[in-house]
Amino acid sequence: MGSTACIFVALLFIFSNMPCEAQLSSSFYDNTCPKALSTIRTAVRTAVSRERRMAASLIRLHFHDCFVQGCDASILLNDSSSIQSEKNAPNNLNSVRGYDVIDDVKSEVESICPGIVSCADILAVAARDASVAVSGPTWTVNLGRRDSTTSGLSQAATNLPNFSDGLDRLISLFGSKGLSERDMVALSGSHTIGQARCVTFRDRIYDNGTDIDAGFASTRRRRCPATSGDGDDNIAALDLVTPNSFDNNYFKNLIQKKGLLQSDQVLFSGGSTDSIVTGYSKSPSTFSSDFASAMVKMGNIEPLTGSAGEIRKLCSAIN
Ligand code: HEM
Ligand SMILES: *[C@@H]1O[C@H](CO)[C@@H](O)[C@H](O)[C@H]1NC(C)=O
Ligand SMILES: *[C@@H]1O[C@H](CO)[C@@H](O)[C@H](O)[C@H]1NC(C)=O
Ligand SMILES: *[C@@H]1O[C@H](CO)[C@@H](O)[C@H](O)[C@H]1NC(C)=O
Repeated sequence: MGSTACIFVALLFIFSNMPCEAQLSSSFYDNTCPKALSTIRTAVRTAVSRERRMAASLIRLHFHDCFVQGCDASILLNDSSSIQSEKNAPNNLNSVRGYDVIDDVKSEVESICPGIVSCADILAVAARDASVAVSGPTWTVNLGRRDSTTSGLSQAATNLPNFSDGLDRLISLFGSKGLSERDMVALSGSHTIGQARCVTFRDRIYDNGTDIDAGFASTRRRRCPATSGDGDDNIAALDLVTPNSFDNNYFKNLIQKKGLLQSDQVLFSGGSTDSIVTGYSKSPSTFSSDFASAMVKMGNIEPLTGSAGEIRKLCSAIN
């Protein structure tokens, strides 16, 4: 009898605690830092009103965080004696932006609730608020991620997609993060805003391929010289039609062979994702709701919870 009761209590303990350890919750800071979310929102709005592109940069920052060691703010760490910064990975260097915005948001949040709100959660909330700031979809952000004490410079090279990747590679990479083809196409729809450097689309606009609209290629060549090195950092909009609005024009562009990156156009090039692209090009509301749920899924990739990791004081350094 006594031992049965004991087992029962032990089972209760296991069932009541396990999910709490592993799961994130949208109410995580309700008691410990009730003003966290409004503070982040105000700061992100200010940053986006100062520079509209920052909305795109903050969404991408969260993506590049989550794909390397999970959503643990590892991307925010600077180089130091113990850290080889992910900021220097080929996919991030001279490319990912918004670190300073996140560092500033963190210091505002620290001033109201020191040591409570993780940098990983700030990234997730900032990505949502950035989408809303450019009239994009909204969603409820799960919270309770903790920050890593390590960074993943070498993993960044293999875990982040490349602009020259083919469809199979993209599908398997996103699949390895628990994201479906549908999630991948929806998330790529964030290329409805933001910019890319000439070096990321030069090969595509000069190879006279059949998967690019000739007029579009020649327009893009004007500010992206053929010679490697020349104008490498000149930027062009990922969505040529409405580069500053979060809408479904990105998908309409793909159908017209006007995707800027090779990795954009492969989503509509006779493969298994064509029908998803067509669907989103016809239904902004389907794109919007799929994007929101895919962002939640992406934000759930391998979080540190419970007593794993730490709550950093500064996002750019471990405590
Ligand atoms: C499918 C694989 C993907 C590839 C190969 C890819 C690649 C790229 C590249 C090459 C750029 C331009 C970078 C530069 O000029 O240095 C870019 C920009 C961007 N990416 Fe992606 N991306 C992918 C998926 C995603 C996903 C899943 C998201 C977010 C959920 C995202 C969000 C963005 C945004 C918003 C920008 C513009 C950033 C800015 O203007 O600062 N991308 N991407
Ligand atoms: C992407 O792939 C191209 C071609 O394979 C390669 O030259 C380039 O270094 C890669 N870029 C990154 C950021 O890994
Ligand atoms: C693409 O076409 C242009 C002119 O139509 C030509 O000058 C160029 O060499 C071609 N590029 C390739 C890679 O064939
Ligand atoms: C990390 O680097 C950024 C950019 O150089 C700098 O502004 C920030 O102060 C650095 N953080 C630390 C803790 O040194």
